[in-house]
Amino acid sequence: MCGIVGYTGPRQAYPIIIKGLRRLEYRGYDSSGVALLDNKGGLNIYKKKGKVAELEDYTIGKDLGAQMGIGHTRWATHGEPSDNNAHPHLSLNGRLTMIHNGIIENYAQIKQELLTKGYSFTSDTDTEVLLNFIEYIQNSNNCNLEEALRIALKRVTGAYCILLIDKENPQTIIAARKGSPLVIGIGKGEHFLASDASPIIEYTKEVVYVNDYELAIINPDELILKNLGNETITPYITKLDMELAAIEKGGYDHFMLKEIFEQPSTIFDCLRGRLDAEKGSIIMSGVQEHIDQLKNAQRIIILACGTSWHAALVAEYVIEELCRIPVEVEYASEFRYRNPIINKGDIIIAVSQSGETADTLVAIEKAKEKGAFIFGVVNVVGSSIARISHAGAYTHAGPEIGVASTKAFTGQLAVLFMIGLKIAYDKGSITEDRFRKLLVELQDVPEKVEAILKNANEIKKIADKYKNATDFLFLGRGCNFPIALEGALKLKEISYIHAEGYPAAEMKHGPIALVDEELPVVFIATKDPFHEKIVSNMQEIKARKGKIISIITEGDLVSPSLSDDFFAIPAADELIAPILSIIPLQLLSYYTGVAKGIDVDKPRNLAKSVTVE
Ligand code: F6R
Repeated sequence: MCGIVGYTGPRQAYPIIIKGLRRLEYRGYDSSGVALLDNKGGLNIYKKKGKVAELEDYTIGKDLGAQMGIGHTRWATHGEPSDNNAHPHLSLNGRLTMIHNGIIENYAQIKQELLTKGYSFTSDTDTEVLLNFIEYIQNSNNCNLEEALRIALKRVTGAYCILLIDKENPQTIIAARKGSPLVIGIGKGEHFLASDASPIIEYTKEVVYVNDYELAIINPDELILKNLGNETITPYITKLDMELAAIEKGGYDHFMLKEIFEQPSTIFDCLRGRLDAEKGSIIMSGVQEHIDQLKNAQRIIILACGTSWHAALVAEYVIEELCRIPVEVEYASEFRYRNPIINKGDIIIAVSQSGETADTLVAIEKAKEKGAFIFGVVNVVGSSIARISHAGAYTHAGPEIGVASTKAFTGQLAVLFMIGLKIAYDKGSITEDRFRKLLVELQDVPEKVEAILKNANEIKKIADKYKNATDFLFLGRGCNFPIALEGALKLKEISYIHAEGYPAAEMKHGPIALVDEELPVVFIATKDPFHEKIVSNMQEIKARKGKIISIITEGDLVSPSLSDDFFAIPAADELIAPILSIIPLQLLSYYTGVAKGIDVDKPRNLAKSVTVE
């Protein structure tokens, strides 16, 4: 949460920073701001409540000439969204300026100390407290800024990625991270800093991912990396494997729509080079290298949040069915605060699109402390979770910018499915015949997704019809139960319509009381061994005059007769069906949100990368 950008070099900093902030807006859009420092130490800070576009309007006609600057887009934690609480913040003596992504947990105590020393504050943020704490340490210890920062960071608890500048040192940016991401782009006589690589890729492909407890001192020609013990570290330069087109809308109205429509190719990319149905093989080096550990696992615990948690729930069905290994799926946020039982032979799989979700990161660290083996299923290459896992497999869905996760979810399903299949094959818990059949089924998924997307307009009509509903119920059984949860989450996020997902059979244990002629009930009723059961559930809703929208398998003649509206998808094995059945639900939420005039790429209160607890 919160996006940060910095630049120092020969170019005008402002356009680079603003463009970067627009790309990072998915991380928060409550306010934004820039601090521009010219070579003579002339500092200009501009900040505004609201989206980056408001800041751009505000800066028209202002002095924007500096060649060094830092910028921030905020997801509010301490203090409401306002101009005052927007970053950058200025220290009391007016010399230091800072932006921050994260939370300083002991800020209240430090603030109290500073108040007794005569400090006053213009915002409600923890950031301004940390900044003035650094200033106070620098003054009272008579040390340089780097040293003051090091001392301050040893005192604070919580998470941070900060960029700090000093009027007296107009070309230098000091950065530090713990728990919130930071990438440094290395150009010729210039450096770029950002929360992820998207603001950097058009300038350089050479980047350094800063690790926790590291501090960087950056000038146009120099990058010095140190740890908090003041030891110099050699920066490890990585080549970015990302193209600019991947982070642009490419003619679509919204990133979310683009990302939904990209799924045939993102799923294909995820399978490519791994799955070979003809040869009957799956090549996944991360799995292969640890295959003995994986196939002999006593238990697999999958940790994730939000949509990734739903992918994990589908994987629970798949892995238990194929591998006969018990699977537990845990919300990372709950797991981390328990005293979880991790036994020898347990495997942790962490699932995350961003690879930066704070709860998932900390949960992994906790499991690691207890000796667990961590396997990461991550989308963002080089992200924190990818780096702290012992092994892993990327989803290869490309940058996901729309706040609601779509293509990353289907990528997670595909990767988790391949992991399950590979373990099952090596373990001998699946027949050769079934293994081969599932490989072919999985290989066919991109084409089937393509076929579903060709009929997107049918979903648009359904969305238009039900857009004014105040509540929705989503019901599914087996592997489609997590899809009911995911369909409900998508609709809530993007259309602000209250929605709940339930296992269809649970409906009778309470939610059925909600059913009346106004309530749309979405059944994920694809053909599987429980199909007759879900048809009975549809009958029960129909008998109570609920409106039935069903996602069915092509050729099903029974469900349409019970449905007010239906959408047919190609037939697939029941374990693979979720990768298909989610597509119409993603479209339903998208078209409903658009019909209601909501900014679907930036729905209220959300941020894509949840880097605070
Ligand atoms: C929903 C959504 C969130 C994320 C969750 C976990 O559309 O995007 O629920 O799935 O915040 O994020 P990652 O997968 O980045 O760990």
